[in-house]
Amino acid sequence: MALRDLLNIRSTDITDEAVYRQRRDLISAMALAPALTLAGCAEAEPPPAPKVTVTPAQARAGFKTNEELTRQADATSYNNFYEFGTGKADPGNAAKTLRTSPWNVAVSGECEKPGTLSLDDLLKGLASEERIYRLRCVEGWSMVIPWQGVPLAQVLKRFAPTSKAKYVAFTTLADPVQMPGIRYRSINWPYREGLRMDEAMNPLTLLATGMYGKPLPQQNGAPLRLVVPWKYGFKSIKSIVEIKFVERMPETAWHDLQPSEYGFFSNVNPAVDHPRWSQKTERRIAGNASKLFAERIPTLPFNGYGEQVASMYAGMDLKKWF
Ligand code: MTE
Repeated sequence: MALRDLLNIRSTDITDEAVYRQRRDLISAMALAPALTLAGCAEAEPPPAPKVTVTPAQARAGFKTNEELTRQADATSYNNFYEFGTGKADPGNAAKTLRTSPWNVAVSGECEKPGTLSLDDLLKGLASEERIYRLRCVEGWSMVIPWQGVPLAQVLKRFAPTSKAKYVAFTTLADPVQMPGIRYRSINWPYREGLRMDEAMNPLTLLATGMYGKPLPQQNGAPLRLVVPWKYGFKSIKSIVEIKFVERMPETAWHDLQPSEYGFFSNVNPAVDHPRWSQKTERRIAGNASKLFAERIPTLPFNGYGEQVASMYAGMDLKKWF
């Protein structure tokens, strides 16, 4: 996420205290720069979600694409997983230490059947599905990845969310013993993400357990991660240990760090630039393309999944609720 660019330092050169101070100063400076400050969205609640239904045929049209796949070697060696370092190769090199079994997920909040379940119990009886999705990182690169997993909606329904559940909050494991990057306060650990309830229940939203027909490698978020293909990649939180149904929009890791740059919704949108770079095009890392010099292609609204998801945002100002 170019955090090192932002701080103009290398994470290996700094103490926690220095990162904290520089980030705090940077955030205060941004608050005083109206040109850079887009409307934050933790302060107010967005308009209520319209009642919409996506037909099964519409949903299915989004489950696959004929676009050229990213090579497995690229998808598993060019990663963002800051718990293992901020370099693209760091997670592939360092995440082998992540123990993915046994793995429990605690589900709580506004639901009738909360509980802590083993991964097996969480997914028991649910058929694994394949989804070939585009993944568009907010940094301006994208991949096409075959995932295996179960629709998030099927898992959430097991816990019988109540009518008070308006959002779902997710948390990644934060274990400094297994995750060397946690020593640096690059993010306010643990990594947190969230979805509005209708987004969580959308048929496109996947809880992935595998990719390329194999169990997820640690660097890609084993043993359980979210894949939300119409949103910037940072919404697709890895190595989930907690799911909570909540009434108010939850705080999320990147919004917490830079509210003016990373909104809660973070739908892929070429019409809303990141304050420091354009979002109109993306570097597509697929097939034999080089990771750094891949061809740039136009970025599509909702990452090309408008037919499946645009109606969830009808009447919403997408510049305000970026
Ligand atoms: N989840 C956690 N816990 N920590 C992270 O640093 N990075 C996010 C997202 N999920 C991240 C995370 C970002 S910025 C992106 S682009 C995707 O994971 C990258 O997923 P990939 O490495 O499988 O391509």
